[in-house]
Amino acid sequence: MQTFLKIGIFALIALAGYTLFANFAIPQVRPAPPPAEEETIGAMGMDQYIALGRKIFEGKGTCTLCHNPVLAGRAPSLTQMHATSEQRLNDPRYKGKAKTGEEYLRESMMEPSTFVVAGFGKAGTNDTESPMPQINGPAVGLKPAEINAVIAFLQTKDGGKATVPLPTGADAAPAPAAGAAEAAPAPAKTPEEALGKYACGACHKIGAFAGAVGPDLTKIGSKRDEAYLRRAILDPNADIATGFPAGVMPQDFGNKMTAKELEMLIKYLKAQKG
Ligand code: HEC
Ligand code: HEC
Repeated sequence: MQTFLKIGIFALIALAGYTLFANFAIPQVRPAPPPAEEETIGAMGMDQYIALGRKIFEGKGTCTLCHNPVLAGRAPSLTQMHATSEQRLNDPRYKGKAKTGEEYLRESMMEPSTFVVAGFGKAGTNDTESPMPQINGPAVGLKPAEINAVIAFLQTKDGGKATVPLPTGADAAPAPAAGAAEAAPAPAKTPEEALGKYACGACHKIGAFAGAVGPDLTKIGSKRDEAYLRRAILDPNADIATGFPAGVMPQDFGNKMTAKELEMLIKYLKAQKG
């Protein structure tokens, strides 16, 4: 009986001890409630903004169509852009309005011909005209808050500091919904829409677009038949237009386009007779 009581008292003391220990010595971890939706959009942090910039750079912005290691001879490498952007301001050829690296990056995207990196100009223009599309123009159509996100990405990806303001209120870029699956882009309803969706106009002169990396397509219909056009889109390296480089036009349209989009584009191109 005595032993039983002793064990009981010991157990009580031990239990009290553990309870105290648990309450005072171990920090109480309680999962934070998930933030409300408006809170995440209104309070997008710089890290999130930079991540959005990377997403735009690699996707919607079409930047990696040209700025990629395979095409290093056609579009300049954008590594160390935080340092390069400031050096450009002191280049004797620089005649633009930018006063800071951030302004240079914005100007490079919105008015690419203001300063053309030596050796990368449109053929025959002696580096006075850039083949890069205006990123806020019809071919790509980024909004100011999206352009700032790309600037933040370019500034920080090689160790620089982001200097752009975070988006506020009406101009806020859409916050990537946490965990939400990316919706597949809707099929284009018109050939013009398809040209935009697949960024054909970033590289070609066609419709409202003035791309200059690939051949002018405004008279293509009088030169090529439908079979050629189909092959040119699905297997661009099968025939290489004279005077243009192989391997620049994306090779994966066959996997991305719906059959209807493809046929619409072929008919549209066939009708382009200048
Ligand atoms: C159709 C091809 C093409 C696309 C698409 C393109 N660029 Fe360019 N970009 C170029 C070429 C060519 C140059 C060099 C000529 C010049 O200075 O404008 C250039 C120059 C630049 C420069 C200046 C580089 C320097 O060293 O001073 C920046 C910055 C830049 N691009 C960013 C972008 C971003 C960001 C995007 C996407 C939002 C983009 N580009 C999309 C072709 C392209
Ligand atoms: C990143 C730049 C780029 C993009 C984006 C691009 N192209 Fe091209 N395209 C080229 C280049 C460069 C050539 C010339 C080399 C060759 O024939 O592959 C070309 C060739 C062509 C030709 C053959 C022209 C001829 O005279 O033989 C057609 C047609 C064409 N592209 C249509 C398209 C369509 C339609 C799209 C969008 C769905 C598109 N391209 C997107 C760069 C591009």
